[in-house]
Amino acid sequence: MRKVSQPIYDRIDNGVYNVQSDQWWQPDSAFYQMKVALNPVRVGYAKRKLVEELKIDPQVTAALDVGCGGGFLTEEIARMGFDSTGVDPSERSVRAAASHARESGLDIRYGTGVGESLPFEDRSFGAVFCCDVLEHVRDLPKVISEISRVLKPGGVFCYDTLNRTWASLLGAIKIGQVWKPWAFMPPDLHVWRMFIKPGEMKSLLRRNGLEWKGHRGIVPDVPIPRLLGYLRKRARGEWTYGELAGKVRMVESRVTVVMYMGYAVKRFPSGADLKKQE
Ligand SMILES: C[S@@+](CC[C@H](N)C(=O)[O-])C[C@H]1O[C@@H](n2cnc3c(N)ncnc32)[C@H](O)[C@@H]1O
Repeated sequence: MRKVSQPIYDRIDNGVYNVQSDQWWQPDSAFYQMKVALNPVRVGYAKRKLVEELKIDPQVTAALDVGCGGGFLTEEIARMGFDSTGVDPSERSVRAAASHARESGLDIRYGTGVGESLPFEDRSFGAVFCCDVLEHVRDLPKVISEISRVLKPGGVFCYDTLNRTWASLLGAIKIGQVWKPWAFMPPDLHVWRMFIKPGEMKSLLRRNGLEWKGHRGIVPDVPIPRLLGYLRKRARGEWTYGELAGKVRMVESRVTVVMYMGYAVKRFPSGADLKKQE
């Protein structure tokens, strides 16, 4: 998979995270749904994989959250016990994240930066998270190569993203953003051509010295007809975002056609790699 072309990248509205940065922690905002509906499934998965299966001890591990936004996930990473850092290109989002962490008594370092050029030394982190971000970046191969560079050998990369299928075109783009009777996200929040197939993700990981370990789907916990009914109520103004978020949770599934999460482990350099570096 290559860097996305400029005309396609021009269609995505990443500016929304800067313009609406005050919305991150407003319980009745579209952004906040990410925390309520999505955080439990991705945090649960990451905890299981990192701590229970791979036996990573958060108390002695530095973790980075790439594209941290307002810090929904970064705060959970810090609560797991990791020494936590978050970076995001949106300066105003980073300020909102830092201010919320202070209010919550959490010790998190935040700074501005893009995934394509991470402002950290090689092998700085034992865990890197990048959730709901990879489908927003201009140069995905560069972001994966940067994440691999800042990971220590044996370190873990956790991510979630959107799949490029007819189901995501219908669900995430048409229903989620375009068709007014149901839309609950801004119209240019995502661009379908920037979505990533699981096979593309696996091959990028492999090319960057990251051993892919697994994918799991993320789906709503209510049947689709009921979900459409809920979205309709929100779009008509009968329900607030807060009420909508209270009704729908995203849960783990075998079905990866719209959204999926996964993890990979940074390989230790082989004898041949070490020779090349001499
Ligand atoms: C959907 S939000 C996700 C925020 C956070 N990861 C979460 O899940 O709560 C997408 C974030 O990606 C950030 N972003 C956009 N382009 C990026 C890039 N090239 N590198 C890193 N982050 C980027 C945006 O500023 C925004 O905060």
